[in-house]
Amino acid sequence: MKILVINGPNLNMLGKRDKAIYGEKTLAEIEALIKKEGESLNVEVETFQSNSEGRLIDFIQSQSDSVDGIIINPGALTHYGLSLRDALADTELPVIEVHLSNIYAREEWRAESVIAPIAKAQISGQGWKGYLAAMQALVAELRKS
Ligand code: DQA
Repeated sequence: MKILVINGPNLNMLGKRDKAIYGEKTLAEIEALIKKEGESLNVEVETFQSNSEGRLIDFIQSQSDSVDGIIINPGALTHYGLSLRDALADTELPVIEVHLSNIYAREEWRAESVIAPIAKAQISGQGWKGYLAAMQALVAELRKS
């Protein structure tokens, strides 16, 4: 079993960016914890980050035939990334959307996600632990089917 854990624009700046909202950990530290969780769940994990919607789509399209599910924090593309949403939907894979912050407790425009309608679930406001919760939920779902 293999899953993708994808991060969108500006998430490469974690650890520097608005720490009160996004936490202290860098993306590399979070990805190491994700890989460790993958080992304990006995699932292969590939991580990817890009600041470009086109690159995210190219990666999803190139991987979708060889993976079982996708976890994604789309960054601000959450709120307007319709091409990304279409690419995720086209994979027909289960998708779980993750946000470090609680997008419902911030600016009004963050409360709308164009990704949520095509996602199996959304985890918002649990910090980096949200990625691990998403992995557990996705793997449990995949093992059920
Ligand atoms: C985010 C929330 C988005 O609104 C924001 O643009 C991000 C990060 C989060 O993880 O909380 O870049 O997806």
